[in-house]
Order: sequence, then C-alpha cells, then structure tokens
Amino acid sequence: MTSISPPPQRIWWKQPLDRVEGAWIVLSLIWCLVMFFMMPYWHIYGKQNLSNEAYRTTPEAFTKKTQAMVDKYTVRTETDLNIPVVHPPAGSDVYLIARLWQWWPMIELEEGKSYRLHLSSMDYLHGFSLQPENINIEVHPGYEHILTVTPTRAAVYSIICNEYCGINHHTMASKLYVVKR
Ligand code: CUA
Repeated sequence: MTSISPPPQRIWWKQPLDRVEGAWIVLSLIWCLVMFFMMPYWHIYGKQNLSNEAYRTTPEAFTKKTQAMVDKYTVRTETDLNIPVVHPPAGSDVYLIARLWQWWPMIELEEGKSYRLHLSSMDYLHGFSLQPENINIEVHPGYEHILTVTPTRAAVYSIICNEYCGINHHTMASKLYVVKR
C-alpha cells in the first residue's frame, strides 16, 4: 500500500472506543478542569502570584513622574553612574524605570510599610525579578504596571532582568533596599 492507493478498508478509523483509551480521555479531562480552577484559586490564596494593575502610558509621561520622585526623595547616589537612591515616604507611589540596560533609580523602602510600585519600560520587554524572593513581573514598554507591595523583611534585595533584552542583558541588575525605620 502507498499513500497514492486507497487503504483496503476505506473508513479505517471507525472503531469502538477502547476502555483504556476512554479512561485516559476522562482522566485528562478531569485534570484539565482541576488545573483550570486552580488558576483563580491560586491567584487568590497562593503565596506568589501578585495581583497587578496595568495602564497605558508613554516613556515621556512615565519618565516625568519618575523624575519628579527622584527630585524630591533622593537621599544619596551609588555606583560610578551616580544612580540616585530614593527613599519615598511610606504609602506613596514609587516609580522604577527599566531600560537598556539599567534599572533607574534605586529604591529604598521601609519594612512593614506599603507602597504602590510602578514599573514601565522605555524601550523593549524587560523582566523585573526580585531576588531572593520569587517575584517576577514582565515590564512592557507603553504600559505602567502597578503592584501594591509591603516588604516584610529588612534586607538588600537584588533586582535582575529576566527577559532577554540584548547584548548587555546580563548586566541589567540593581538593588532594592528595605530598611528598618
Ligand atoms: Cu532587560 Cu534583560
């Protein structure tokens, strides 16, 4: 038999369903449903999926808000690039820019206080990954992602980019300070 000549039994697929095959279909259907309902369940009761809000923005508008925060709350600068470290008041809006290949500015928060953390990209897709916590947020250009965060432990955290964004992707790292008041 070749693919040119018809098969001897033309309707070859019409066979009764084997019990094992039926059992596997039912089993995988049930498992699909379990996983489907786990998504909203885990979002509400899980420990790691942060709820975020997202709004449209532009690099210009986001830079303006970030610059205003930097002008007001910078407490020192760090590294050869003189990256400002901002210490905004508890409860306020905190802005973080992702761009090739830098996080700007550096942020210092207080333990046990809540903040509205705004993230946006100036160019391509970046990934906000907070280490050693398991927090990952995609940072898109044209969108402002907002998370309500309450750091529970004073430490120096690392922010690394976990979306490949070009030749210096591996150098796109920064720090997040959480201090005791
Ligand atoms: Cu930014 Cu990788």
